[in-house]
Amino acid sequence: MIPNLNIVPFVSVDNMMKLVLRVGIERFIAGLAEYVEEDFRRWETFDKTPRLASHSAEGVIELMPTSDGRTYGFKYVNGHPKNTREGRQTVTAFGVLADVGTGYPVLLSEMTILTALRTAATSAVAARHLAPRDAACMAIIGNGAQSEFQAVAFRALLGIRQLRLYDIDPAATRKCIRNLAGFGFDITPCQSAEEAVAGAQIVTTVTADKQYATILTDNMVGAGIHINAVGGDCPGKTELHRDILMRSDIFVEYPPQTRIEGEIQQLAPDHPVTELWQVITGAAPGRANPGQITLFDSVGFATEDFSALRYVRDQLAGTGLYEGLDMLADPDEPRDLFGMILRAAAPAPAKAPAGA
Ligand SMILES: NC(=O)c1ccc[n+]([C@@H]2O[C@H](COP(=O)([O-])OP(=O)(O)OC[C@H]3O[C@@H](n4cnc5c(N)ncnc54)[C@H](O)[C@@H]3O)[C@@H](O)[C@H]2O)c1
Repeated sequence: MIPNLNIVPFVSVDNMMKLVLRVGIERFIAGLAEYVEEDFRRWETFDKTPRLASHSAEGVIELMPTSDGRTYGFKYVNGHPKNTREGRQTVTAFGVLADVGTGYPVLLSEMTILTALRTAATSAVAARHLAPRDAACMAIIGNGAQSEFQAVAFRALLGIRQLRLYDIDPAATRKCIRNLAGFGFDITPCQSAEEAVAGAQIVTTVTADKQYATILTDNMVGAGIHINAVGGDCPGKTELHRDILMRSDIFVEYPPQTRIEGEIQQLAPDHPVTELWQVITGAAPGRANPGQITLFDSVGFATEDFSALRYVRDQLAGTGLYEGLDMLADPDEPRDLFGMILRAAAPAPAKAPAGA
């Protein structure tokens, strides 16, 4: 890493792609998943707060801070489902890690790609504890930007080889099939969510719509499956019919945030849920029996972004895949910030004439 503390390493989208390709997408997600799980294990060391959301008619902009007492991190992220119609991403993000001791930032990174990687890694970590052990087939409803990442994560962590895909836009499904061609999946495109779910032991819902949607209805959900509900992550934006929730054992990241944003916003505020960190540490059971319907009500939590930034920082060493950003003022005398500006305007000392 750059030794000058006043120069902050910045990972651009271009460098993030190079880093992911250098490590390998599947290995990157698997490595990131270990960091996510490690940080869930030390859940109690983190400062936690529901993310700060600024809603508009078109979407949401959110800030997601956390700290483990030594390192502070935050992510800026948006969610604008209509963006894809204008050629933009639904979700974009960037994030920062900072040293708690000095308050100085130590890493600035793009997080649009990184969010897709960490969301998929977190889903797969949860599924490792909750999905049926013999799961071989996953349905993915919603085949947009996040979908391939989910597929690759479930292959890397759970050995999923069969995919059943459905999207209201068949072009999205075709794109997903094209992108996953080299990854060794057996892929079935489907005409409806109901068809996609048939025969799958894991169902991932990852659609984008700023409304209460019903991607899955109660009759589609058989005993024993694991639902990885990713797309319902805002007030007024859900994917599952309430009856499914009533039949499921529900696992969440951070209840104060999920009760506002997740599928469980449809339920009473005291409806029982289990926190994922407790399952990971063994304090609470995950899947207890084969007939149980488990639901990971994912909304995305700040510690997962912290884990992702930590992973990127550790992978960067020796790669050169960052630029140094002149982000921190560094006057010779710390209190002379004003003088530093004045000196920048002063004319450079005249050069001595040649030969003098
Ligand atoms: N839980 C998390 O941590 C987390 C993280 C990132 C994104 N998300 C959410 O995941 C969702 C997907 O994100 P993305 O970047 O892939 O969005 P995207 O816009 O790229 O893709 C969404 C896809 O869903 C499809 N879709 C919409 N309604 C559908 C329906 N009724 N049935 C089937 N398909 C439908 C769209 O055609 C589109 O292809 C968003 O809602 C986003 O907010 C959650």
